[in-house]
Amino acid sequence: MDQKLLGFLLVSFFFFSFNSPYSHAAKNNYLRQPPRKLVLTPHQGSKSNPQQVHVSLAGKDHMRISWVTEDKHVESKVEYGEQPGNYNAVVTGESTKYEYFFYTSGKIHYVKIGPLEPATTYYYRCGGQGPEFSFKTPPATFPIEFAVVGDLGQTEWTASTLAHVGSKDYDVFLLPGDLSYADAQQPLWDSFGRLVEPYASSRPWMVTEGNHETEIFPIIYPHGFKAYNARWQMPYRESGSTSNLYYSFDVAGIHILMLGSYTNFDKKSAQYGWLVEDLANVDREKTPWVVVLLHAPWYNTNSAHKGEGESMRKAMEKLLYKARVDLVFAGHVHAYERFTRIYDNKADQCGPVYITIGDGGNREGLAMDFEEPDSPLSLYREPSFGHGRLRMLDETRAHWSWHRNNDTDAYVADEVWLHSLTTNPACWDATPSTKDEF
Ligand SMILES: [Fe+2]
Repeated sequence: MDQKLLGFLLVSFFFFSFNSPYSHAAKNNYLRQPPRKLVLTPHQGSKSNPQQVHVSLAGKDHMRISWVTEDKHVESKVEYGEQPGNYNAVVTGESTKYEYFFYTSGKIHYVKIGPLEPATTYYYRCGGQGPEFSFKTPPATFPIEFAVVGDLGQTEWTASTLAHVGSKDYDVFLLPGDLSYADAQQPLWDSFGRLVEPYASSRPWMVTEGNHETEIFPIIYPHGFKAYNARWQMPYRESGSTSNLYYSFDVAGIHILMLGSYTNFDKKSAQYGWLVEDLANVDREKTPWVVVLLHAPWYNTNSAHKGEGESMRKAMEKLLYKARVDLVFAGHVHAYERFTRIYDNKADQCGPVYITIGDGGNREGLAMDFEEPDSPLSLYREPSFGHGRLRMLDETRAHWSWHRNNDTDAYVADEVWLHSLTTNPACWDATPSTKDEF
């Protein structure tokens, strides 16, 4: 048997035996609706042509453009401008690559461009060749709309979800973890990058890590996240974080924190210290909305992954509550569930609304088994694939909707109007404003 094949078999055996959520499925005894087939997306161009192009917000008025080339000699440069084919700016960036057992990635390019105008379409070309791409920058003020999709994967369900997301305009794509479901089979990261490119190259994609990004292998890759950190670099330095696994950013009037469920979060951890500082610096005049995304839900009435977010909740819930976070999105559980405002397992008018949106379309199918009797804290729950849309109308009002994937259209199955906690004076009596008060 050749060495490469043996390597992949060993890696696959490890993941399916010890790391795969299939093992949780057996333990928890929950059933899943049959998943749909994997979609493999080949590269169409030459070795030097860009592939897996995606963009993300990178500090005030800037975007980071990333792509991969099989050819190692392609320069990490982006040409761009406001007219198609007319590039009046050129920026050179940097590149990286990584190895994972017998796999070596292509050249992964990163170029940060800007300053850019808000709500403006820019046309760009990567590496001086290949097709032209375009993206639209988010608006500087309300209204703004987010597409929110967790546990995306790369199946026919994924393609359906993305088509529904793309059928109506939005400004920023938010993903609370579990992207490719490559699970150590590195070519699947490349295939995922190509599948999402039409969407991720045209609107900023802001992601955080899930358990499927870890790809830890004892002794050899004990810290994990090799592919994720190399391929999906987020603006962590721009937000004072020292790790790509947690960061924050401002867009229009919203401060968004992307937390890491799979890195340390206890009181002594770097993430905890960064979170305290980040929350203390929030200016609700400037960003009246504060939204958090993380992977393993803190509140969940599905038997799947029950209790897996509990230690993080115990460590960090008080910080989020004291900062009057408006909304917390999670993934991980392959279903949709919306809760009321909660603090410490009780309804609380000053706590965040919790929403689980782990139903993007991955290969594992749905988490069908919700606990009975249902909790009064849980207002809507359903195991169907779909996506969410969060439209912030202004400083105080937002509309949330969850769109179930029907065969040909996206059906609005759940929707609710939300008001920023800044509108409730009862929540602001003793709110901490400095790091020491948290
Ligand atoms: Fe997950």
